[in-house]
Amino acid sequence: MPLVPLSRILDAGPVFAFNVIQIEHAEAILAGAEQAKASVVLQISENAVRYHGALAPLAAAARLAAERSGADAALHLDHATDERLVREAAEHGFGSVMYDGSTLPWAENLRTTAEVTAWCHEHGLFVEAELGAIGGKDGAHAPGVRTDPAEAAEFVARTGVDALAVAVGSEHAMTSRTARLDLELIGRLHAAVPVPLVLHGSSGVPDETLVAAAAAGMRKINVSTHLNRLFTEAVRDALAADPKLVDPRRWLAPGRDAVAAEVARLSGLLKG
Ligand code: G3H
Ligand code: ZN
Repeated sequence: MPLVPLSRILDAGPVFAFNVIQIEHAEAILAGAEQAKASVVLQISENAVRYHGALAPLAAAARLAAERSGADAALHLDHATDERLVREAAEHGFGSVMYDGSTLPWAENLRTTAEVTAWCHEHGLFVEAELGAIGGKDGAHAPGVRTDPAEAAEFVARTGVDALAVAVGSEHAMTSRTARLDLELIGRLHAAVPVPLVLHGSSGVPDETLVAAAAAGMRKINVSTHLNRLFTEAVRDALAADPKLVDPRRWLAPGRDAVAAEVARLSGLLKG
């Protein structure tokens, strides 16, 4: 199917956004979504772009994989701090971007996010921004940080962003699913903020809390580490089972299958 704008997917209800690091991720995520008859967001982070050295090849792979899949999928740029990368995304099929100024002081986050958003809207891009740094990787702020609903409402009004990532208790890159979210805060943010809310660092959030977070108002639920953990476990098992393996397809395929199965299972959770 042709790529679908993120706004259209979010209008229909809560959705998972999964990170694409290599082509197998895109194939697995789309296969899982198709199996669950769910919409999905394929997102490529600035870190993944850094790993590949360029945006275009992975973006093209994800877009072309989405076009030959039966699932409704949006292509989204994740955690971009470099404004040049945001501009580049507009040329490579992305319908939406996350501009992440969350580690900047309030006034600077406000100013740069407003500028990037104005540019994006002129070029037809939907913008997600972040307020209240979500702890975890890259030495981001402490896990105890929370987004204040009144500040969030002011931030959205003054920047014009289309979606907002908020800090409600999750942390990036957790490898155990033991995070406790502040569901009451999610409800207050949902009431105060007129745009869809985004949950980052959802790998550490147990199934039932993910469902409760969506019910409380989370619309886009970002998961990366959890899928990578399952992918790597399956690869490790395949390599251990046959130390003579040399063809990468023989050990990548189990990783890809494990991710597809989990995407299908998680997507089913949001369908109620
Ligand atoms: O932006 C991506 C996510 O927030 C993923 O976080 O790796 O902790 O699931 P995670
Ligand atoms: Zn994130």
